[in-house]
Amino acid sequence: MKKTRYLTGITTTGTPHLGNYVGAIRPAIEASQDPNIESFYFLADYHAIIKCHDPEQIKQSSREIAATWLALGLNTDNSVFYRQSDVPEIMELAWVLTCMTAKGLMNRAHAYKGAVQENVEKDNSDPDKGITMGLFSYPVLMSADILMFGAEKIPVGKDQIQHVEMARDIAQRFNHHFGETFTLPEFVVDDNVALLSGLDGRKMSKSYHNTIPLFDTEKKLKKSINKIKTNLLEPGEPKDASDSTVFDIWEAFATPEQVQYMRDQFAQGIAWGQAKKELLGLINDQIKDARERYVELMADPAFIESELQKGAEKARQQSAPMLKKVREAIGIVSIT
Ligand code: TRP
Repeated sequence: MKKTRYLTGITTTGTPHLGNYVGAIRPAIEASQDPNIESFYFLADYHAIIKCHDPEQIKQSSREIAATWLALGLNTDNSVFYRQSDVPEIMELAWVLTCMTAKGLMNRAHAYKGAVQENVEKDNSDPDKGITMGLFSYPVLMSADILMFGAEKIPVGKDQIQHVEMARDIAQRFNHHFGETFTLPEFVVDDNVALLSGLDGRKMSKSYHNTIPLFDTEKKLKKSINKIKTNLLEPGEPKDASDSTVFDIWEAFATPEQVQYMRDQFAQGIAWGQAKKELLGLINDQIKDARERYVELMADPAFIESELQKGAEKARQQSAPMLKKVREAIGIVSIT
């Protein structure tokens, strides 16, 4: 049976947190064990420089993200795990696609429109103030990431759906003009896992500064969990599970039986301190072994690097012939 090809990128600008784990990393690692799936996961470091111009942060984040995925047991034999910048063909393809992308399509991209909107609201005379060509055209780079490997399914957060659709549009336009070259990708959004609440009850996100880092020490994890916002209900007073960040995070880690157990506890008025203590236990049990491996990996960057190089080699086995095919299609060939 032919394997279905999945691909997703992780922008290297932050430290992995529980929201990343539940929403992206955990499902991806499960998929890496599935013999019917062939997955491509990569560190999107050329995407990172769109928003972040701090070299130390890019470097540190790349190392942390790679160590996190490996520590959690990513099966690198059944998946291709690489760094975008190690596959130069992607950047070449990005230019070719840029030349086949309508500027009007990019004008409609949310990230760009959002930035313009912010400028207009600030009553800025230049609506494009502070907006780089990188931000403007990044859906093209993302299209190159996807189309290069003939990926069929693209697991993303809701904010990225539009970009996958743009990749599809760009592929169609190329195929129509130059002949069948690219596979048309589809986005995959899992409604069950897409959102995890953060410390303040809003979506857990780096931009809200409300995250719980995945591999902090147990002591720090405890401190973070104690900071989760709750209401003022006393022990013994019934609590509403449907309106609680503590419960929401519990649900993301618990079995159905454990979910029911905590629902009952809420109804019976469990104290917030006790609920948080049990939440810490639940999360800690699930991640503590991986945390140990993470610490070991972070102390052994040469190993992480060798895994990424192995991945890059596998990726280039696909990207080199694909780029050749594209060049032939557009007429960039030997003149002999
Ligand atoms: N832009 C994506 C994000 O911000 C990351 C990304 C880059 C990506 N290239 C990709 C995701 C290709 C899926 C496929 O989350």
